Amino acid sequence: MSYTMNAAEFNEKIMKGHFRKIYPVIAAQLVERTGVSAGRCIDLGGGPGMLAVCIAKITSMKVTVVDLMPECVELARENSAEAGVGDRVDAVVGVAEALPFDDGSVDLVVSRGSIFFWQDQQQGLAEVWRVLRPGGWAWIGGGFGTAELLREIEAAKADDPEWNRKRKERMTQNPPEHFRAMLQRLGIEGVVEHQEAGTWIIFRKPEAAEA
Ligand SMILES: C[S@@+](CC[C@H](N)C(=O)[O-])C[C@H]1O[C@@H](n2cnc3c(N)ncnc32)[C@H](O)[C@@H]1O
Repeated sequence: MSYTMNAAEFNEKIMKGHFRKIYPVIAAQLVERTGVSAGRCIDLGGGPGMLAVCIAKITSMKVTVVDLMPECVELARENSAEAGVGDRVDAVVGVAEALPFDDGSVDLVVSRGSIFFWQDQQQGLAEVWRVLRPGGWAWIGGGFGTAELLREIEAAKADDPEWNRKRKERMTQNPPEHFRAMLQRLGIEGVVEHQEAGTWIIFRKPEAAEA
């Protein structure tokens, strides 16, 4: 396991701090674009679960946070209960590369800020495809909602040049062409959208009749 962080500090300082405003914006963007608002959603590498909470608040979906860190799973449960959506958000320990879900059982897979850390990104995307039901959508990548919100975060992080350096390094190591080539190798038709506010891999598994 190569990913490590202080989950409690991430929860307090980042998710409930500087990053607080981005999750409702990203949730609204992806729900509007995919049109998925019912059924089952996975927030993959969901950390302490703020995107999951925001999705649950604006849809009737049941959302499962999957994360390799047990501390994150615990925090995701606490955060969803605190936000009043604990009955529709649950959390399990798991990895992107071996998702603990049946084939074709999920309507929407979202993942923010996690794929950059997966040990095997291609296997993770293959798993996302496997668990999606025909007609289901995936929204995977990283971002800050809008360029304005990114600027606010950059200003808040002005005393932490290392954060900006690491973010830019991740972008350089994971350019859109890298993900486009991966989708092609997997035979998945999708788009990789790259803007200042973020990079997102977006695809829909065709309905059986369309496949
Ligand atoms: C930067 S955090 C982002 C958390 C959350 N999605 C957010 O946007 O606030 C990255 C998360 O990905 C998780 N992670 C890293 N590699 C993973 C993998 N292979 N499978 C599942 N989770 C993973 C980490 O434990 C961490 O919680």
